[in-house]
Amino acid sequence: MTSADVSRRDFLHATGAATLGAAIARASPAAPAASQRPQYDKKIRMGIVGGGFGASFQWHLDPNCIVEAVSDLRTDRRERLIKVYKCEKSHESLEKLILDDDIDAVAVFTGAPDHVRHCVAVMNTGKHCISAVPAGMSLEECEELIEAKERNGVKYMMAETSHYRAPAMLMRQLYQDGIFGEILYSEVEYYHPMDPGSKERQRLWYYQGKPTWRHCYPPMLYPTHCTDFVVGVTGERFVEVSCMGAGPDDDPEFENNQYNNPFDTGVALLRTDRGNICRCNRSRTLHAHGERAQWFGDTMSAFMSSWAGQPFVVKQEGKPNVTAHPDYMDLLPEPMRVKTGHGNSHTFLTHEFIMALVEDREPVIDVYTAVAETAPGIVAHESALSGGEKLKIPSFDPQK
Ligand SMILES: NC(=O)c1ccc[n+]([C@@H]2O[C@H](COP(=O)([O-])OP(=O)(O)OC[C@H]3O[C@@H](n4cnc5c(N)ncnc54)[C@H](O)[C@@H]3O)[C@@H](O)[C@H]2O)c1
Repeated sequence: MTSADVSRRDFLHATGAATLGAAIARASPAAPAASQRPQYDKKIRMGIVGGGFGASFQWHLDPNCIVEAVSDLRTDRRERLIKVYKCEKSHESLEKLILDDDIDAVAVFTGAPDHVRHCVAVMNTGKHCISAVPAGMSLEECEELIEAKERNGVKYMMAETSHYRAPAMLMRQLYQDGIFGEILYSEVEYYHPMDPGSKERQRLWYYQGKPTWRHCYPPMLYPTHCTDFVVGVTGERFVEVSCMGAGPDDDPEFENNQYNNPFDTGVALLRTDRGNICRCNRSRTLHAHGERAQWFGDTMSAFMSSWAGQPFVVKQEGKPNVTAHPDYMDLLPEPMRVKTGHGNSHTFLTHEFIMALVEDREPVIDVYTAVAETAPGIVAHESALSGGEKLKIPSFDPQK
C-alpha cells in the first residue's frame, strides 16, 4: 500500500491486523463522516474579498454556504471572483462590502499587512471573519485582533492550509488518541524559492511597476504553514525562540525596503510550553520546495513526503512501516470532495468555518490558535535581527 490518497475505509481495510496501521485504524476518526453528522438547512451568506489566492476556494460547493458578494479593488480580480463563485453581486472594496447587510461573514484574502486592519473592520460591523495567513504582523496587532473578536462577540478563523493537509490530520488523530505519545522534537519548514531575477519573483514582488506587500517580506513573518504542524497537532504553545537570519548578499532590491528587512532565510529553534523542541525553517533562497514536517517521539516518528524524495512514512520500532494515510474526504459533504490546493486543504478550511457558524461554535483555528501560530514568527524575526538572541514568546491565551 503506497498510495497516499486512500479513503478512511480503504485505509482501515488495507493496513491489516497486526500492524501499526491497525492501531491507527482503531484510533477514533478525526470526526464522524459528513453523512453521519447532523444536517442543517441554515445557509451562511459569505462576502469574499481578494481575487488572487482568495479565488482558489470552493465556497460555492458548500451546501450550507451562499456567496452573497465579492470584492477586489482590481476590476480584473473582481470579475474573476464573480466567475469562480458564480456570484452576481460585487462591491468595489472591502470597506463597501462590509456595509452590506445581506452578508453574515467575510473572507479576508487581502495582503498580509492589511489583515488585522481589514479583519477588525469586518468584525466591528458584527460580521464573522475568516482571514488568510498570517493573523498579524506584530504582537500589538495580535492583541488588537483578539480584542476586536472578543468585543464584538463574533467568530474568527485563520485559513491555515497546513492544518488540513492529510498527513497533519493523521498526526493529530495519532496524537489525540495517544498512539504517537509526546512529540519530543519536530522539524517544520516552508521553502518557496524565488531566485533574484526570476519571473516568479518579478510576478509576486511587483504590480504595475510598483513593489507589492510581498517585496522583501521578512520570511519569519510568514511562519504559520510551519508552526501549525505543532500548534495545530498537539495544541502546544511556543514559549521561546532563537533565530538566525541569512540575507541575500548583494541584492539591490533590499536597499531601503518597506520592512527594513535584511533576510531571505530564517532558521529558528523553538521550545514549547511542554519543553519540546522544534526547528523551523523559512526560506526563499534555499534549493528546496514545499511545506512539510517530520515529527519524532521516543517510540515513533512520522515523515511527510518531500520535494527531495522522502516518501510519507510512519515508523515504529518492531512494526512494519505505514506508508499511506487516509484522504479524509468523507469528512466533507459530497459536492465538496474535489481536489484542491495546498494538499487538498481548501475545502476543509471553508467547510470548518461554515460549520462553526452553523453550529454556533468556535472554529478549530480560532483567534487564539491563529495568534499562537503567528506570534512565534514575529518574535523569531526580532531574534534574528538581534543576532539570534533567545527571546520569550508572550502568551495571548485567556487566563485560566
Ligand atoms: N497557503 C496559503 O495559506 C496561502 C497561499 C497564498 C497566499 N496566502 C495569503 O493570502 C493572501 C492573499 O494573497 P495573494 O497572493 O492573493 O495576494 P495579492 O496581493 O495578490 O492579492 C490581494 C488582493 O486583495 C485586494 N485588496 C486589497 N485591499 C482591498 C480592499 N480594501 N478591498 C478589496 N480588495 C482589496 C487587492 O486588490 C489584491 O487583488 C495573503 O495574505 C497571503 O499571505 C496564503
